[in-house]
Amino acid sequence: MAFKIGLLGLGTVGAGTAEILLSRDSHPLLQELEIYRVGVRDISRTRSLQLPENVLTTDLEDLATDPEVDIVVELIGGLEPARSLILKAIASGKHVVTANKAVIARYGSEIFDAANEKGVYVMLEAAVGGGIPVIQTLKQSLGANRIKTVTGIVNGTTNYILTRMQSEGADFAEVLADAQQLGYAEADPTADVDGLDAADKIAILASLAFGGRIKLADVHCEGIRQVSAADIDYADKLGFTIKLLAIAEEKSQSSKQNGDEEAELLSIRVHPTLVSKTHPLASVNGVYNAILIEGEPIGQLMLYGRGAGAGPTASAVVSDILNVAAILKTETVPIPHPLLSCTHQHYCKIAPMQELVTRFYARFLTRDSPGVIGKLGTCFGDRKVSLESIVQTGIHGNLAEIVVVTHDVREGDFQQALAEIRAMEAVDSIASTLRVL
Ligand code: HSE
Repeated sequence: MAFKIGLLGLGTVGAGTAEILLSRDSHPLLQELEIYRVGVRDISRTRSLQLPENVLTTDLEDLATDPEVDIVVELIGGLEPARSLILKAIASGKHVVTANKAVIARYGSEIFDAANEKGVYVMLEAAVGGGIPVIQTLKQSLGANRIKTVTGIVNGTTNYILTRMQSEGADFAEVLADAQQLGYAEADPTADVDGLDAADKIAILASLAFGGRIKLADVHCEGIRQVSAADIDYADKLGFTIKLLAIAEEKSQSSKQNGDEEAELLSIRVHPTLVSKTHPLASVNGVYNAILIEGEPIGQLMLYGRGAGAGPTASAVVSDILNVAAILKTETVPIPHPLLSCTHQHYCKIAPMQELVTRFYARFLTRDSPGVIGKLGTCFGDRKVSLESIVQTGIHGNLAEIVVVTHDVREGDFQQALAEIRAMEAVDSIASTLRVL
């Protein structure tokens, strides 16, 4: 056996990874990989996998620093002890393969600095999009391109919930409860439904697409708790479907043209979005993920597939293991490998949300009296918010419901107009505002 694997974690993805490594039939290089040790919390648990004898251990740190191990595969998830174990493995000269988007999005700088110093690889194909090979695509296959935008449906749980809300006309809480019962949503759904998981993933994708580090705190993040069945219904009538999108886009090239590499301005955000039914991402339904990349000269490219689950995620993990093993085996490529290592150190500059230029959808509940639509229109006009459509959609009790879609506007101007509208006597409430792609 040429290369010894230390596997940290034998949950869904860990077991899927071990299964591929044990089967050894999809690639000849698998014959040269050995599951040397497997770190678990509880050795006595019954497992269906036929692991080699005596590989299980509960001493995770001992595994991560074991001189015999070549590649540490971290699949325990969560922030700690995962971060510390990755850093200890690197400090011990091991290559690391991880599926841990939360650790990479928060501690990527620390981890990649340590890896570069030690001359080891940290591979993370499984951290974003499960089985979708988006990391390799951005790092290697699109190396000839200047990336303009990365727009993704990168969270399967929220896409499943929104898809069911759309098809059943059901409310968020109802579908979430059912999704939890069926195992499609976690008992604590916060990371998924509040957009945090998607924010971690778009921070990682943006870093690769735009060649700079991203501070997670700079990523604007809104989840789907506020999306109502009524908004899904209105959006549908207007020709849109609502998706939780993770978006990273280049806002300006001006400073780069002046030779200032560090001042490239990006917008990075996660929010529920009205997507035209004709847009390629509109038909990505259920637990599926998709990432639409726009670059020069490639134009549009969309990757579609399963974003979670044992098989798809293990497929990504094992492809990383094979990549590291292949490089170590040939030994002709100097470390750090220019396409596989992290080569950037500067932080990208992120534009504040007020500067975003986008279309908006908004729903108002107002008094049903003469001149209300006119007052709304005037208020928007005064703030340079140009309206594409404004319609009274019905009456609720004694309140009129008015739905507005804007042209491209500066978000700061739109928010100012909303503040003024909220203060109007004729306005009962602003029921919802959503961005439109
Ligand atoms: N919770 C994630 C999702 C799993 O729903 O997509 C994969 O990261």
